Amino acid sequence: MQRGRTLLQGAKSIVAVTGAGISAESGVPTFRGAGGLWRNYRPETLATPDAFARDPRLVWEWYAWRREKIAECRPNAAHLALAEAAHRGRATVITQNVDELHRDAARIVANGAAVADVIELHGSIFRMQCTRCGALRADRAVVDATSIATLPKCERCGRLMRPGVVWFGEALSPAVLERACALAARADVCLVIGTSAVVQPAASIALLTRENGGAVIEINPEETPLTAHADVSFRATATETVPRLLANTV
Ligand code: OAD
Repeated sequence: MQRGRTLLQGAKSIVAVTGAGISAESGVPTFRGAGGLWRNYRPETLATPDAFARDPRLVWEWYAWRREKIAECRPNAAHLALAEAAHRGRATVITQNVDELHRDAARIVANGAAVADVIELHGSIFRMQCTRCGALRADRAVVDATSIATLPKCERCGRLMRPGVVWFGEALSPAVLERACALAARADVCLVIGTSAVVQPAASIALLTRENGGAVIEINPEETPLTAHADVSFRATATETVPRLLANTV
């Protein structure tokens, strides 16, 4: 803990790369590990354009289930501690999560003032995109995935909407990825919190910090492929660690 706090105290620029594990203690199911699977489907078989083309109802059913679960969740102490650091201009959050909990935390902390930016690499589960005209809409309504007829349709052209998230086999927004990589490359410290670090390109962002002379601090109850590259590793949960690590350091 002391080593991590010292690194953070001396850092001019900090990024935090987060994954599903940071939201686990808010009640959001992770993708991998215990309790991570939905009806025994692996995310790689459902979160793809092919799966959606083959069976949009099934894919929407999975997303409808996740949307309902996530809608009940609130940011936890780790989201809030990061949001405080971002609000003070000391850190930028780069997340793979589509649950918007970092954004919610940023709004809570800002308390009416300007809300710190969150870089959402994989989009948002509360956004939909038209499969034909590409129209985007923010939408938190319950999705009825009992049949094709009940799935969400575009208000502009009437065609099927899809979840507004990045799927396996799809490219991340180049502008979003470029910004995340530039921030990581010039960061003095990259915190990596609650990610299995197996999905690219997000998994490699912390390595940009390291390659440019910065330090990597990992927080995860399990070892990951990034552990060997971390300067400090916490085998503990996000809420146990992040608030203590950041308190009075950033
Ligand atoms: P995963 O579900 O792969 O990994 C979650 C990680 O969080 C694991 O390494 C756990 O050990 C860790 N974890 C669990 N509870 C934790 C806690 N309380 N505190 C800290 N860590 C905890 O989730 P991601 O790495 O985010 O992409 O998955 C990456 C991407 O794969 C997702 O963005 C999604 C998914 O398929 C797409 O849908 C494109």
